[in-house]
Amino acid sequence: MIRLAVLVSGSGSNMQAIIDSTRNGILKAVAEVVLVISNNADAYALQRARNEDIKSVCIERKFFSDPKFFNDAILQELLSERIDLICLAGYMTLIGENIVFRYESKILNIHPALLPKFAGKGMYGRYVHEAVIRAKEKKSGATVHFVEAEYDLGEIILQKEVDVLDNDLPEELTKRVLEIEHQIYPQAIKEVIERKFI
Ligand code: GRF
Repeated sequence: MIRLAVLVSGSGSNMQAIIDSTRNGILKAVAEVVLVISNNADAYALQRARNEDIKSVCIERKFFSDPKFFNDAILQELLSERIDLICLAGYMTLIGENIVFRYESKILNIHPALLPKFAGKGMYGRYVHEAVIRAKEKKSGATVHFVEAEYDLGEIILQKEVDVLDNDLPEELTKRVLEIEHQIYPQAIKEVIERKFI
């Protein structure tokens, strides 16, 4: 069984989709989520982890004098839980180079757009969907990709499109894309496990 860690900052609906797929879906008997790390004490994802009886820890940047020490603390947790693969799921801070170096090609992220479009600084959450609508795109979607030291730049693992409808509101597009995210994240994890661990 591949040991997954999920790093979160917010609601954790993607984390939930991953957990569900390890229990009753395509990741069953393939992987298990053994660790959830949040950089935000108020993240609902922490409650979800407790509901699922999964170890969760909250490591907040503000308690460390230097980002390096913050990322060292995260790496320490990952190593002590013998994590094989890391999934960023709405993790709203840059992952440390120490972690990227130690877990090279073993860190995945999901982005709510069709990368390489609508990527980079400031392109997160609602801003992505607003930008897509403003640009009058006919298609948007979600992308799972490997994480490099820079945001949204690693190799694409899986991508799926949704239609952008006339007069779409950001909330509606968010919802449509999120449904796709919940499908493709477990699929992408499975693909990576088959490529790298089997
Ligand atoms: C998702 O849209 C994801 O693509 C982005 O942040 C959002 C997280 O949502 N990186 P959730 O916390 O998984 O519900």
